[in-house]
Amino acid sequence: MDAREKKRKAAKASLEFIEPGMTVGIGTGSTVNELIELLPSIGDRINKVVSSSQASTDLLNEKGFEVTRLNEAGPLDVYIDGADEANKRLHLIKGGGGALTREKVLAGAARRFVCIVDETKLVGMLGEFPLPVEVLPMAQSFVARQFTKLRAQPVWREGFVTDNGNHILDVHELNISNPLEMETRLNQIPGILTVGIFAHRPADILLIADDDGVRELRA
Ligand code: A5P
Repeated sequence: MDAREKKRKAAKASLEFIEPGMTVGIGTGSTVNELIELLPSIGDRINKVVSSSQASTDLLNEKGFEVTRLNEAGPLDVYIDGADEANKRLHLIKGGGGALTREKVLAGAARRFVCIVDETKLVGMLGEFPLPVEVLPMAQSFVARQFTKLRAQPVWREGFVTDNGNHILDVHELNISNPLEMETRLNQIPGILTVGIFAHRPADILLIADDDGVRELRA
């Protein structure tokens, strides 16, 4: 089974968490794109949809969904999104697609966060995937120096501008042995808008697709 089929399986398994009348948050990325493909099949259950990126909004619109802004939607009943890495405590690295800030907001606004991944995303320790960090453009060099002091290698995602008009640093070789502590620590650096560690607001449910089916881990 190829990676895309696994992503589709994880996406399909997440549909059961969407109950009639729910306000649903939709994330960003190739796994979520599979979910958006499947969403019309249960469209009658959805009251409102909120999206974490312009890219997902465009796809949702193509599928006939009107996207509500979070400010008008109120709390989300469920937020469904992918991840770049996940550990067994359901801490995540996110932001490979650069949508981490809005994703963190929607995860925070959701009663339940369902994360959909294929088995390759499950890791023992976070950090092999370079950590995406959204920074204010004027603070980019300053923030990069702070990572160098932590013996990590920040790499500017050249030519990429987030939906919020900011830049992304992809930070290699950062020691994330304690995700909660590292998220807290990085949040103190001025100029960082969002760190791609989702530990203080982890997923509630992790759906992991492999060749045999879809496994479920709960926080
Ligand atoms: C988007 O910014 C990310 O957080 C995605 O959720 C993450 O990169 C997973 O993407 P894929 O489903 O494409 O692997």
